[in-house]
Amino acid sequence: MDLKNKTVLITGAASGIGAATARHMAGLGARIAASDIDVGALEALVGELNASGGTAFAQAVDVTRSDQVDAFFDAAAQAYGSIDIVVSNAGIGGKEQRKTAEHTHDDWHNVIAVNQTGVFYTMQAALRQMMAQGHGSIVNVASLAGLKPSGYNLSYSASKFAVIGMTKSAALEYGRDNIRINAVCPGYTKTPLLDRLLGFRPEMEETLRRLIPMDRFGEAGEIAEAIAWLASDQAKFITGQTLVLDGGTSLI
Ligand SMILES: NC(=O)c1ccc[n+]([C@@H]2O[C@H](COP(=O)([O-])OP(=O)(O)OC[C@H]3O[C@@H](n4cnc5c(N)ncnc54)[C@H](O)[C@@H]3O)[C@@H](O)[C@H]2O)c1
Repeated sequence: MDLKNKTVLITGAASGIGAATARHMAGLGARIAASDIDVGALEALVGELNASGGTAFAQAVDVTRSDQVDAFFDAAAQAYGSIDIVVSNAGIGGKEQRKTAEHTHDDWHNVIAVNQTGVFYTMQAALRQMMAQGHGSIVNVASLAGLKPSGYNLSYSASKFAVIGMTKSAALEYGRDNIRINAVCPGYTKTPLLDRLLGFRPEMEETLRRLIPMDRFGEAGEIAEAIAWLASDQAKFITGQTLVLDGGTSLI
């Protein structure tokens, strides 16, 4: 499989799954438009991609700001001519782990703004561009938490269920327009986001690992490979689906 002649726009590309996806897709020959709020890490990543023979540019984008999202799409379209693939990946976990009655309003508003509204803004900008160019493929990064209940983090759960709902509803609307929209649902994957979650309760690491039939956490690169495949022409009859990457956790 290769992604030569494809252009890919990624949100939340500075770390974890987003960075692994940028590296993997660049390695497959795609030109990358990478964005994040962490500008230092983002520029380091883009420097690395360009130094190893790829083509990439970085733009500071907060996905909760539709003006910044729109400006990023304009810049990517101007740089590359078209935007074939969009990976809507930026996401946060919330600052605290509490039961629903104590869930802080700060966490609620921040998590919904990034994980849900950010995906909405990104899909809107992507669909406008893809309608104009007559094709496109969008992969939204949801979560196992968007398919199954998970305690102590209501906003995260709500936002990821919403991402799956938005993915399926938009896929229904745009199938005739040659635009595919899918989601991936990673289980527990080793990234800074999981490190922060385990930071609340370090004893959870062993407990969570026992929930994974394959007896290990996922690697960001493994999620990146699935995103690249689902976004590519190899998956050209697939739309509105959720691809679960969880080492079997959802079987339990
Ligand atoms: N790691 C896991 O176990 C896991 C499991 C399921 C789903 N996910 C999802 O995968 C995606 C990537 O997470 P990750 O694990 O790589 O985490 P991560 O923290 O390593 O990376 C997330 C990136 O998003 C960026 N970001 C945060 N807020 C932003 C904003 N407002 N605008 C733009 N960028 C912003 C961060 O700066 C960071 O670079 C998220 O949507 C997350 O919910 C992760």
